[in-house]
Parts: sequence; C-alpha cells; structure tokens
Amino acid sequence: MCGIVGYTGPREAFPVILKGLKRLEYRGYDSAGVALLNQDHLNVYKKKGKVADLEEAIIGKDLQANIGIGHTRWATHGEPSDRNAHPHTSANGSLAMIHNGIIENYAQIKSELLNKGYSFKSDTDTEVLINFIEYIQSNNDCSLEEALRIALKRVTGAYCILLIEKDNPDTIIAARKGSPLVIGIGKGRDEHFLASDASPIIEYTKEVVYVNDYELAIVKPGELILKNLGNEKVTPYVTKLDMELAAIEKGGYDHFMLKEIFEQPSTIYDCLRGRLDAAAGTITMSGVEQNIEQLKNANRIMIVACGTSWHAGLVAEYIFEELCRIPVEVEYASEFRYRNPIVNKGDVIIAISQSGETADTLVALEKAKENGAFIFGIVNVVGSSISRISHAGAYTHAGPEIGVASTKAFTGQLAVIMMMALKIAIEKGSITPEYYKKLLLELQDVPEKVDAILKNAEELQVIADKYKDASDFLFLGRGYNFPVALEGALKLKEISYIHAEGYPAAEMKHGPIALVTSQLPVVFVATKDSYHEKIVSNMQEIKARRGKIISIITDGDTVSPTLSDDWFSIPMADELIAPILSVIPLQLLSYYTGIAKGIDVDKPRNLAKSVTVE
Ligand code: G6P
Repeated sequence: MCGIVGYTGPREAFPVILKGLKRLEYRGYDSAGVALLNQDHLNVYKKKGKVADLEEAIIGKDLQANIGIGHTRWATHGEPSDRNAHPHTSANGSLAMIHNGIIENYAQIKSELLNKGYSFKSDTDTEVLINFIEYIQSNNDCSLEEALRIALKRVTGAYCILLIEKDNPDTIIAARKGSPLVIGIGKGRDEHFLASDASPIIEYTKEVVYVNDYELAIVKPGELILKNLGNEKVTPYVTKLDMELAAIEKGGYDHFMLKEIFEQPSTIYDCLRGRLDAAAGTITMSGVEQNIEQLKNANRIMIVACGTSWHAGLVAEYIFEELCRIPVEVEYASEFRYRNPIVNKGDVIIAISQSGETADTLVALEKAKENGAFIFGIVNVVGSSISRISHAGAYTHAGPEIGVASTKAFTGQLAVIMMMALKIAIEKGSITPEYYKKLLLELQDVPEKVDAILKNAEELQVIADKYKDASDFLFLGRGYNFPVALEGALKLKEISYIHAEGYPAAEMKHGPIALVTSQLPVVFVATKDSYHEKIVSNMQEIKARRGKIISIITDGDTVSPTLSDDWFSIPMADELIAPILSVIPLQLLSYYTGIAKGIDVDKPRNLAKSVTVE
C-alpha cells in the first residue's frame, strides 16, 4: 500500500528511483511522483495514474540530481489526482516528503495549522504532516531531524516517510512506524537506497538494514545513522538479501500472475526442500522443533490473517483439527484486533501473511504478544515485520510475489501448514505412523501433480472464454475444498471484476440457490474425498435449476462430468492435500477470464498487494 523509494549517492538519482517505482507499483498505482534535489533546486513532478504516465509526463524536464525520493500511491485521503499525488512540499517550499501509511489525527493538526494561517493544496494527511514539521522547525528554530522527532511524538497512525530539505542537499531523513522501510548500503558504502521492500535495491547491493518502528534514519552518501525517537543512536543491523534479480522479473511470461502460477511446481518444491524427507519419514522445521512442547500441548490455535492468507488459515483449521486434535479458530485480523479476544496461556497464535507487512495482521499480533501470547508466523517475505515480531515461524520460500492476486504464496502456505501439522501430530501421537508416512509421500508428489495440472492450462482458457460475460459466479465446495471455493471466488472478482461468491456447497440451499438461473455459472470444487457423494447431490440440485456447472474433479471420476457443462480434472490426492491442487485451476480460470476481459491482471483496479493501512 504505497511504495516509496529514495536514493542518495554519486549516481543520477532519477533512473534509480524510476526503476524502483516500477518494481513497487504492485503496492498501489493511483499516482506516482518524484522529488529531485540538485543543490538548492527542488524539482517535484507528479501525475495521476501509473508510473508509465509519470514517465511520459516528465519528458524534457530537468531530472538532474544525485538525491531524490519517489512514491507510487494507493489513495487513502483524497481521490487519485495530480494534486493529491506525492511528494508533497511544505508551504515555504523547502521540504519535500513521501509517506506510506495514515496519520489518524491529521484533521486535528490540520485545523491547528489552518488557525495559524496555513493553507493546503491537497486533501492528504501527508501534506498536513509536512507542514506541521515545517511549522515546528521554524518556530523552534531547530534542525529538520529534531522537528520530525517532535512531530512524530504528536501523530498517531502509521507511517514510513522520507523527507528531503533544500538546506541539506545530500541527506534523506526517514522514519517508520507500522509501514516497512529497508535501506540498501551501496557496495563502496558511498551510496544508499531506501525502499518499501528490497526489490528496488537488489541489483545494486545485497547489504540491507531493516528499519524498526519508532526509528529515524539519517542517510547521506557515506553515512547511515539510526536513532530512536529519544535521539539515542541505534546500531544498524546489516543483513544479506537472499533474493535474485531474476525472481522479480517476468521471465518471458506476459504477466507476473501467470509466471507465478506456473512457478508453483518449483516454489512448492522449494518450500518442501530440506524439510520433508519422505523416505526417512522426517520433517525438519526448526521453528516447530524448538517450540514443540508449546505447540503440541496448545489448548487452542488461533489463526490470524487477511485475504487469501485467511483462506489458507481456513484450510489449516480443518488440517490441524483433523491431524493434531487441537481446536482452531480462524480470525480476520481486522476483527480480532478491535474486539477484546480471549487469549489464554497455552493458546498459540499463528499469523499467516505473504508480505509480512499487512497492517491489520501486524497490529493484531503486537496486541496478542503484549498479552503474552506465543506467536508463530507463516510468512513469505524474509525479514518482514511479521516475521520479526513472531516468536518462531516458517518461511514459505515462494520467492517474491509481484502479481497483486496471491497465487504461489497460497500454495506455499498450505505446504507449510501441512508439514507443521504433520510434525506436531506425530510428536503428539494423534495420528498413526502409517497415515503420517502416507501423507509425507503424498506431499512429496505435489510438485509433480501441480506440473501435470499446468500442462492442461489451455482447457481453462477455453472455459474462461465461454463464461467471461457472466455477471455473477457461484463457487461451491465442502470440507477441505470449502476454503478453496472461497479463494476461487476471491480470485475471480479481483482479477475479472465479475461478482463471485464462495459458499459451502450444502449451505447454498439457505440462500444462494435463489440466484440460480440458466445464466449463472456455478463452479464446484468436487475432487474425490469423503464428501464426494454429498457434493454430487448438490450438483444435481443446481442442474435441476438449470444452472451452468463447471466442476473441478479428480481423474477417473465418471459421474461428475455427466452433471457438468464443463469440467477440469486433476490428479488424485488425499483430501488433506487436495486444496494445494484444486486451487490451481481456479487461479488459471480467473487469470484467463481477466485476460479475456482486457483487464490488467497484475494491477487490478483499487487493489494493492501489500495493505499497510488498516
Ligand atoms: C491484499 C492482497 C491479497 C492478500 C492480502 C493479505 O489484499 O491483494 O492478495 O491475500 O492482502 O496479504 P498478506 O500479505 O498478509 O498475505
């Protein structure tokens, strides 16, 4: 949610910032802008729309500078427009700032500034903050750093901000609370790169510092100083990035989403690699091993997540209860954080997040941690905030996911959940060694089965073309495939803008069945499992009302095709593992539907990949 980039060093800043903004565009694409400082010359260019629109708008402009900041916006305060685009400048024109987050008490500060004679060009909270900083600086006759510190003690909300000042033409001052910031240290240590994630930095350096909440960074070409809000120095902790440039490029695919769907045989393999040894009957997961007593004796597991990760949490509920016999509750992070949840000693909280930065999930965990809960993070982005505040965890190792709609991260989450549940269950003795071994072998075969599904991708393109003009879709599943139905509906609405609802297949009779006409496509996730006969009955019910049935079935199923208008068949798998496979045709169905409708599937309207505001 909003991407920010900064550069200070000997290079031309603009090309570094522009490339960085393109990499961060998945975080928001309502507008883009840059501020470039050349001695005491501050040039600010900003434009509604995507980074490409900005690029076009600035042809022929003065872009000369060795220091600059850039922003790609997901609008919160104020509609997407040129004037609400970042960077914002202070009234006296000496400061420029970009911001990712929300200043919650901006209205109060704004009215104070209005009373003092300030006026505003935009509707943003960011312009309020920069003028507040300017006001403090001029009234206290203090440095920008000091003024920022004072201002931040007053503001509530979340922020990652980068600030530049005409009077200090080689320095970027940054601060974070709740929104991510990583600083790359250039090879000769004479340049620094600042960004919301490592993707704009990776080609210049692998040495990075993740800035923590309530820290300020004062960044010059040869100097990086970290301080807390009390003006005490903090030692920067330098880590090495474990990411290759190729991982964040399209690699010959038309879209990141398609690339990421097709990467799944290898991302799932990478997730299992080094952990699962089916022949030896072992799973190695240090985060689980080191906390096995806590995990296997948990009174209850509470899963906290948002979006697609929440759907992975629902699958986890079925798996943990079945294998580990531990009661599980799955919570929307945004609800969990604002009610007064009962978290007892002996409860384990599992956070699931691709980005590791989702604001609601992060704050929910911080609160639970304050109350003494044990937090286990299942996260994709290495070094992200959620991974850092968790007591223990397991990375999904899916690699950078750029397409806004989550695909490979979801299957990675399911693979981690499965390994984790199996490990706890065998330690606890809640499953037989024979069933454990069977599931290990099945899990090992998943990458190959995913590969087999992807080989038939064009069949889904044909189905997508046939139903692309439908105004609504219903997705139905039972048991382990119920969350998959929810995920299928979410994917379709995100990527094709077709209204879609996911429902438990039996519950469909309590409402959605009223929508069934010969115009309504109903997708059944109906792989062979213990509920199969039941879901076939549900198909009959839809067929009797002339709904159009599209079914995802298991190879060898001869009954479902007789009831279906269209079907797609996937390899046989144990029902606990089936969701990792059955979701893949649904990802492809949405992708091809979006493409058939001419939608920018990597950047669908109004969405952002990393939701760092609540
Ligand atoms: C956004 C993304 C979704 C994602 C959700 C949760 O809505 O568009 O794809 O599932 O955030 O994000 P997380 O990074 O916490 O998994």
